[in-house]
Parts: sequence; C-alpha cells; structure tokens
Amino acid sequence: MSESVPQRIAHLRGEIERHNYQYHVLDTPLITDAEYDIMFRELQTLETLYPLLATPDSPTQRVGAAPLLSFAKVVHHTPMLSLNNAFNDEEVRAFDARTRETLGVNEVEYSVEPKFDGLAVTLIYQDGIFVQGATRGDGEVGEDVTQNLRTIRNLPLRLDIRQLAKPISFIEIRGEVLMFKHDFIALNREQVDKGDKLFANPRNAAAGSLRQLNSRITSSRHLSFLAYGAGAVEGFTLPDSHFEQLACLKKLAVPVPQEGRVVDGVDGLLIYYREIAELRHKLPYEIDGVVYKVNNISQQAQLGYVSRAPRFALAHKFPAEEALTTVLDIEVQVGRTGALTPVARLTPVFVGGVTVTNATLHNEEELRRKDIRIGDIVSVRRAGDVIPEVARVIFERRPVDVREFNMPRTCPICGAQVTKQPDEAIWRCSGGLFCPAQRKQALWHFASRRALDIEGLGEKLIDQLVEHQLVHTPADLYKLNLQALAQLDRMGEKSAQNLLGSIENSKQTTLARFIYALGIRNVGETTAKGLARHFATLDSFMAADETRLQLVPDIGPIVAQSISTFFAEPHNLEVIAKLRAAGVQWPEQAEKAVRLLPLNAKVFVLTGTLISMSRDEAKSRLEALGARVTGSVSQKTDYVVAGAEAGTKLDKAQQLNIAVLDEQQFLQLLSTNEMSSTAVYRKVMEIL
Ligand code: IVH
Repeated sequence: MSESVPQRIAHLRGEIERHNYQYHVLDTPLITDAEYDIMFRELQTLETLYPLLATPDSPTQRVGAAPLLSFAKVVHHTPMLSLNNAFNDEEVRAFDARTRETLGVNEVEYSVEPKFDGLAVTLIYQDGIFVQGATRGDGEVGEDVTQNLRTIRNLPLRLDIRQLAKPISFIEIRGEVLMFKHDFIALNREQVDKGDKLFANPRNAAAGSLRQLNSRITSSRHLSFLAYGAGAVEGFTLPDSHFEQLACLKKLAVPVPQEGRVVDGVDGLLIYYREIAELRHKLPYEIDGVVYKVNNISQQAQLGYVSRAPRFALAHKFPAEEALTTVLDIEVQVGRTGALTPVARLTPVFVGGVTVTNATLHNEEELRRKDIRIGDIVSVRRAGDVIPEVARVIFERRPVDVREFNMPRTCPICGAQVTKQPDEAIWRCSGGLFCPAQRKQALWHFASRRALDIEGLGEKLIDQLVEHQLVHTPADLYKLNLQALAQLDRMGEKSAQNLLGSIENSKQTTLARFIYALGIRNVGETTAKGLARHFATLDSFMAADETRLQLVPDIGPIVAQSISTFFAEPHNLEVIAKLRAAGVQWPEQAEKAVRLLPLNAKVFVLTGTLISMSRDEAKSRLEALGARVTGSVSQKTDYVVAGAEAGTKLDKAQQLNIAVLDEQQFLQLLSTNEMSSTAVYRKVMEIL
C-alpha cells in the first residue's frame, strides 16, 4: 500500500459511499457483499486504530453509536407543514379551480408524486455534510434523531457536490423515512424467530425503528429515505420548479421517488392518481395516496399558505384497504416451534390487491380481545404484504347463531398435550419433532431460501416426504435417491433429478445459513449471522456455554438459553453430525483469520481516569485489537484497567480475582499488541 493512512481512509470512504449509492439508490451493485464487507472492515479498523481520523460523515457511522438517554429537541429552521387532503375527484377539481382562479390562469402545471406512508424527517447539510436530522414533531419542534438517520444506508452522509462551482453552505432536505416492503417482511420474520411481537405494518416498523434510543437497533432495521422537497437553502440557488428541484437533489445523490412526473391540469392529476393506484401494490414501498404540487415555485409563493398547510399542494388519498367478509370457521395451525396459531377461514374477499381466504388471529388473547366468533362479519385488513388479519368484528351485524372458538387441549395434528408458559400468550404442542406438523415446518425452514436454499423443495413435496416416511430429519434429505422419489405423486424423473441436484448444491453453504437452518428457537437470520461471525467455526459455537454466548453482540440470556437447550438435546447433535457426514460444509478460513486479532474476544472493563487518553480512545483502541469493552465487572471480565481514583469496579475485580492493569501496564499492552495487530491485519487482508 503506497497511500498514507489518511489517504487510504479517504479512498475507502469514497469507494464505500459510491457502492452504497449503487446498491441502495440505483439498485445496481457493482461488487459483491463480501468485497464490500472487506473495505468496510478495513475502514473500521483504521478508524479505531487512528481515532483522530474518525469523522461523523464516515460510512462506518451507519452501524450506530452509543445509546442515548433521550432525544434532544430541535426547533425547525422552517416549519414542517402538513397537507390538505382530498378523498374524491370533486375535491381535486375544486382544488384545481381555486388554484387557477388565484393564479389567474387557464391551466396549471403540476408536479405529482406518490404520498409515502412513513415518517416525515428533515435533514440538514452544512457545506455538503449531513450534520443534523429531526422528526416532524408538532411541525415547529421535532426530535433530534441524527445518529439514527446516519444508519440509513441510502441517506447520503455527504452530498455529491462535484459538479457544483462551490459547496452549498446550508440546505434542509425534507422527505420520508420508510421501510421497504421486503425489509418489513424480513423484519417480521426475524421477530417471529425471536418470539418478539410483530409490527402491524411497514409504517409502524419504520416509526419504531427510527425512534430507538439505541441507534445500533436502528442500524439493524433497514430503513430507507426518500426526499420530496427542500426547505431553507443558503449559498445556492435551486431551480425554479419543484420537479427540477427534485432532479437537482437527485444529482446531489439524494434519493428521490422514481414515480414523480409533471402533468397539466386536473385531468393530468386524475389520470396520474388512477395510474399510481394501479401500480400501488407493485411498488416496493407503501403509499397512501398521491401528492399534487403546483410545479412553478413563484406560483407556489403566490398561492401561499393557509393555517398549517400550503395552498399549492394537495394529498389525494387512497381509500383504506379493508373489506368485509364472513368468518366461515376458525382452525389451528401448528408452527415450527409448536406454536398453535388460530386462523380464520373466510369467504374469499378482494383486499389490498389480492383475494384473501385466510387471516391470522395471532393468538388466543388477541382473539378474545377482538371477540371474534365463527359466523361473524369482520373487517379484514391487509397492510402491504403482511399476512392478512382480522381488524375488527362488525358487532352491529353479528348473527344470532355465532359460535365461540376454544383452543384445543391437544395438538390437532399429533394429539400431544398443548401447554402454555404462564408469561406467554402462545399455546404450544409438546410433541416436538414427533409431531408431523413441526417436523414438516422444520424441514421447510431448513430448505427455505435464507437457510440451505434447496430449490424446488416446497411445502407439498415436504408433506409427501414426511407422510411416506422417507424423511424424518433434514439429514434424511441427503439420503434421497431417484428410486425413493419415484414413489411420490406428480414426480417425474426430470423433476426428481432436478430436486436431487438442488439438494446436492445445498451442501455448499455458509456457517450463518447453517446455523439459521437448524431452526433454533429465537435464532433468526441476523442472530445466526452474528453467531457465525463471532465464533467462525461450528465447533466453537457448539462448545460455547451460556456465558460465552452472551458475549456475542445482541445475544441476551433468553437466546443463549434457547441455544444451549438446543445443543443439550442429543437428537439435535445427531442430526448435525449426520448433516456434516453427508457433506454439508462451508468455508471457515476467512472468518478464522479475523479472529487472529491479538485480543480477540477478551473482555475489558475501564474504570477510573486515565491520564494519557480519554476513555473513548482507550475503548476504540481495545476494540481495534479484537477486545470487547463492557461497563460492569463480572465473571466474564478478563481484565480491569484501573486509572486514577478507581472505585467499586476495582474492588469487585479484586473480589472476583480478575487481572487488574494500571495505566502503565495498559499502555504497554496496547503498544505490544498494536504492533502485532498491524501484521495480523495485513495477513487477514491477504487471506480475505
Ligand atoms: S410535501 C409543505 N410530498 O405527508 C408540505 N409530503 O400530510 C410538505 N408525505 O408530513 C409535504 N409523501 O410526511 C409531501 N410526496 C410527498 C409526501 C409527503 C408523504 C407526508 C409528509 C407530510 C405529510 C402531510
């Protein structure tokens, strides 16, 4: 490497942001995730080794920062207004007529765009750098969510001002934070795996994620930003039409909606409304209407504002996506972890772009709370691509002969006892893998796209494999042959061969996928990735006790317990051994290399005051060497670094017999290891 460290850092930042933009805004990645990760990790390492070179606009800031106690209040430079709504064509015609009259013109040019269903935010860029962002709040005062906004991958931390003669000294960019439908589905899938509560719709998920005091949680949530306009601007003149302003923002690397357009007159507005209503379900994000804005900025000024809304803009809302239907029956489904979910069978009804015949009732409590009975007329809601749910019962129309539903006391599939933990809302079948329903779900999970990705192994086929007793555990999949498959319905030789081919292909996998595929309770995809990254090998993961497991970021006592319960079950160990014997494998070397860092997985606690550096610097330098720094002394602690006036933590360390380093010894430890770490670091990069 001939570059100096600051040059290398600048180079990496530029490249990482360029690839972020390609991936998150243009949707056309130029490099693989692995190549991206290598650059990112190199930058992280350099910034931790050289803390003075870290800056708030570095892409590494996107992973989140230390949790806050509360959000600071921000007074908006220009108020964040709301929009007047229209719910039908007449109201739109009236808006256009008023606009023409005020402007004294025959026809108005409008800029039109979708109305995003997310949360309004304002972003402030000073000299091209993102310095502060806030929620709308009451329109005058919002909450400072800067650190959380920094984690949003498609939100530029620095504007692309290369084509400009001089940087824009100040600009406020207004837009919406939202969660794309596919990210929302993935998040709820994770929530199911973790046994956490589901988000009702992408908007709630986006709001819950943006208003996290711990920005690391926000970072894990995959939010997106879309701009719909600019507020105050200094040191720069924006174009004089709204549409061109958006185009200008786009040139600065700010994501703007692709569906925006310029139309003439009210007919143009209504055509656009119908077009977008058609397109609505195909868009990657949720919208709740369209927004019409007078395109010309001086005409906007002429129209002005009335109370809290502009006269030059109008939101034309879509009708709510709910529909009425009848509950024909209530049945129970048995999930992978044995959870019994009541499901309503409905008279088919068209809602949210699809025909719905089933709706989840979540659990018994929910069903009681909403008082849903067989025979009821209910309103069914489908938010985005979420599983449809029963929103409410239309009590005024309740027939006299409705029947109440009771959860069964035994599993409807295998007949085993149904049990419930006192603190849980969910009843579970106690049949474990003896229950065919659970076995089928476990196989389905194992073969699913995010797990071992066995193409062509769908639900119907799994049903047959289990019913013909050909497959009991995932390991049995690798024993299937043409002869066995020939017994199945609708299985020609060609499809049998294809299936065997994809089973064979699935043997080459990654450790993260394998861990996820095991279907350990509370271990979703993200957790599996974290575990794979931390342990690097399956053996060390399996050998870790609950205390070690909790050293992995984001793993608490509940997940740790699920993991150790899973490995305590001899049957599970047997399945794992058989899978490995069948040739299921993953590359381990690259991850191993990262673990060569000298203080890998060592746990430090800092206490008292250090003279030679701040606590933040001490922490960063330790972390760059692979160590973890925690706040309290426990059995898990390897070293306590005691500065001047160290207090109770030092006492605790002595009680627990934990190694204590004074400042001199600590500096010695850092300098020895930092030297060796640079060498290791080079090696890591070579291997990767
Ligand atoms: S323009 C001067 N454009 O709708 C008014 N707002 O009901 C500025 N919204 O708080 C708003 N999509 O959060 C505008 N394309 C869009 C929008 C949009 C969603 C939200 C925005 C605002 C709310 C007003």
